[in-house]
Amino acid sequence: MLLRNVLFLGVGFVYFASPVKNEDFKKCKDSKFCLLHRDYASSTKSPNNLQTNYIIAKDSVNLINSELSAHIINSAQNVTLDLKASFLEGGLVRVRVQELNPPFPRFQGPGKYSLKNGEEGLKKIPETKISLKSVSSQDGYKSHTVAYGSNSKGASLTLSLSENPWSIRLLENDTPILELNTLGYFNFEHLQDKKSQPQESNSTSPLDWSENFKSWTDTRPKGPQSFGVDISFPGSTNVYGIPEHASSLSLKTTKGENRMYDEPYRLYNLDVFEFALDTPMALYGSVPVMLSHSKDRTVGVFYMNSAETWVDISKADVSKVANIYNQILGNQNKVATNTHWISESGVMDVFLMPGPTAKDVFSQYASLVGTTQLPREFSIGYHQCRWNYLDQNDVLSVNNMFDVHGIPYDVIWLDIEHTDGKRYFTWDNAKFPDPIEMQNTLDHSGRKLVNVLDPHIKHDDNYYISKQATEKGYFVKRNDGSDYKGWCWPGDSNWIDYTNEEASEWVSQQFSYDRYNGSTPNLFIWNDMNEPSVFNGPEITMEKDNLHFGGVEHRDIHNVYGMLVHKATSEGLRKRDKIPMRPFVLSRAFFSGSQRYGAVWTGDNAADWEHLASSTDMVLTNNLVGMHFIGADIGGFFGNPSPTLLTRWYQLGIWHPFFRAHAHIDTKRREPWLLGEPYLTHIREAIKLRYKLLPYWYTLFYEASKTGIPIVRPMWVEFPENTSTFDITSQFMVGSGLIVAPVTTEGDSVTQVIKFPKEQIFFDFFTGESILGPETKDIPTLLREIPVFAVGGSIIPTRERSRRSSHLMRNDPYTLNIYASSFKEIKGTLYLDDGNSYDYTNGGYIYREFVFKNATLYSKEAERPESEKSAEYIAFKKSKKNIRVERVVVKGMRNSFTKAIISENGVNREVEVTCTQKISGVCTVRDPGVLITEDWSIRLIQ
Ligand code: NOJ
Repeated sequence: MLLRNVLFLGVGFVYFASPVKNEDFKKCKDSKFCLLHRDYASSTKSPNNLQTNYIIAKDSVNLINSELSAHIINSAQNVTLDLKASFLEGGLVRVRVQELNPPFPRFQGPGKYSLKNGEEGLKKIPETKISLKSVSSQDGYKSHTVAYGSNSKGASLTLSLSENPWSIRLLENDTPILELNTLGYFNFEHLQDKKSQPQESNSTSPLDWSENFKSWTDTRPKGPQSFGVDISFPGSTNVYGIPEHASSLSLKTTKGENRMYDEPYRLYNLDVFEFALDTPMALYGSVPVMLSHSKDRTVGVFYMNSAETWVDISKADVSKVANIYNQILGNQNKVATNTHWISESGVMDVFLMPGPTAKDVFSQYASLVGTTQLPREFSIGYHQCRWNYLDQNDVLSVNNMFDVHGIPYDVIWLDIEHTDGKRYFTWDNAKFPDPIEMQNTLDHSGRKLVNVLDPHIKHDDNYYISKQATEKGYFVKRNDGSDYKGWCWPGDSNWIDYTNEEASEWVSQQFSYDRYNGSTPNLFIWNDMNEPSVFNGPEITMEKDNLHFGGVEHRDIHNVYGMLVHKATSEGLRKRDKIPMRPFVLSRAFFSGSQRYGAVWTGDNAADWEHLASSTDMVLTNNLVGMHFIGADIGGFFGNPSPTLLTRWYQLGIWHPFFRAHAHIDTKRREPWLLGEPYLTHIREAIKLRYKLLPYWYTLFYEASKTGIPIVRPMWVEFPENTSTFDITSQFMVGSGLIVAPVTTEGDSVTQVIKFPKEQIFFDFFTGESILGPETKDIPTLLREIPVFAVGGSIIPTRERSRRSSHLMRNDPYTLNIYASSFKEIKGTLYLDDGNSYDYTNGGYIYREFVFKNATLYSKEAERPESEKSAEYIAFKKSKKNIRVERVVVKGMRNSFTKAIISENGVNREVEVTCTQKISGVCTVRDPGVLITEDWSIRLIQ
């Protein structure tokens, strides 16, 4: 228990450091269902309670309403399961299995919370486009094939269902790309009526009805209800996803002779104190999404379940595991990645995402759970946080020091100590006598404040939130119906039941300016401890047999609880203004769908080089599964980073989507100016680089919010055939235009090995030197900066003037940086809007496309629907009508140019061009006199 690491000091708890207590957290063997299914998968004998031989019932297969349905029979236990496979727009297939006639209903899954438009919002492919063909084989069983469309490359998509034993294969042009139960691991602990079970000394051990862990007993009143299923990725060598773990980007094997972990990856949102690295242990968030990428294709699965889940991974020689099928089809696949998913409760509910490209998978997943909310523009700037800024003077003095040292920043944060005794929505009035004045001062330079607000509520009759929530019955309940009580920062606490829509709405209302004293439109929120973290609970969380609204057990919704806290907060901020404004809320716990509500971070990391390196694996993994707005605490939360480590951390942190420095209460102050030179200069330059590139970042966020494409990307997303980069994080991409290579070892001068994919030109971002791939280069790196390269063929917009905050840059001119390439079209985009409101949803934005060909740069409006050429569009365009392009820089030009012809509205004029052939040929058009909102071209003339 965390309690060992926590002292209770009068009004609250204080952490003190000690390494992760592994024994506080369950291993597979401690979660009995995990062990049962794991054993089942590795034995031929059916263990107690689990059944083999799940077979499709004769003549039960039907295709009705774009849904293939069948009955799966477990003859040994006389149980019939209902299987449904529905065919969705975008080529997805949803496969659901549960008992046909259960003694009581299973929890139907988190679709209500996770799917962007709920269950009703899923769009099925029209029945007329789907056909079923059934073929009998000699053993009397049939195989059924449903043809339901084609993918983005025109290949046919079919689903095949075998009857004995039941299994499903998704095929692209007859090649299996995703398989369910081809290994026969499918198993259910069928629901049983407790009353009908004989007591003691019988076949069902009474232990199955309750389970102990350390001093805890989970009463499990519904008895065993777990299930497991294997999902295979034929042809796949690398799988990714299923955050959150402090593990590698390319997931490691957990089964088989050469396995890299002994335990399966676990998905169960937990507050793990001083989490260890390179382990499949569960952490704060869960996204049950796995992607597989090979040279041929990318595919994925979304396993929609919010209960405790374990995932085993192994690599296999396909010819041994799915032999008959492979022989029949002449399948070329030599390898496969096999996975085994095991959940404690809920229904089996798997969405198959057929790709075939990574970008297709991202949009297929986004069609289910939605995309990253377009953030407030300020929130992609730099955030300065620590536990805790002491008082109002401290906040204002830190704010001032940023100006003194010429470092831009956007947000300063207040941790739990700003409250009156950890009563959220209140202030410690002695330390913060005038929070409104404080926020107004920050506002003078366009800066914001974020306050922490956790889901535990101090149990105190004199605290209005506690009193009202108790009276209204809004707290999570014990299984005897009383309000659940546990310990967290304030001591005795209760937890709001966010699954109760009325309670969630009530919390949202608490953010109105008249209720939240001392709040202004400049205040934003941080949700912490929302796994939920309970210091004296099992595994530092809530008991699974606690009850939520409608009698739902906590075990069923554990992994979505944090997302619901995030949602209520986000909605509260949105609604506090008469004209709703975009919220900014950071959350520690998350689930599939959390991206709709704001940002997340990787939790309590440590100030060491290993954590610095690991942050990129975690950030990339999350980006692959839709959690784009994520970053790690810069500098490391626990411990004191050396100046070199802190400098390197900033230099990497500017390339992660969420960019915040944070530190534990016991650490030394580490604001950049406290480091002295040369570190201060390097950190300042790094932060300024982030600000220069904000137009690029904001455009990436917009594109992510439209299509689901990650903001930061493993190399293979952009170079899908470059196998040598499938498992690396020593370099990664920001958008499609930049490659970043973090320095994760001590030393002022470090050599980085960079792999440049073939047939592409790359440019050193700082020197402009060009490199032709394929090439592996040793790049010596001084403390000044970390290696960054631009990809030839990109056009990257920047704003070069240094200001105190992003807000103050909003009317600055742009520079367009063109990186030439003879291999591909040279293109870029730029998105801008007011950065705050929802006007962009009605067309109030500018989205430009730049193309450079035949030595001419063209600026045109990127495609927009007619409906968005609205009054908001016209008004916004007008408001930005004076914003210039102040410079065009073309890198990689072999020829020299002396002038440029600018064509705008049919009128031509000439301007000067300067070219230098030093390094790789750079031509600059200074002040071409064109506006960012307009169409024009700039032709370079020799
Ligand atoms: C735990 C969070 O992870 C950390 O960031 C925060 O500073 C402490 N709680 C105190 O609120």
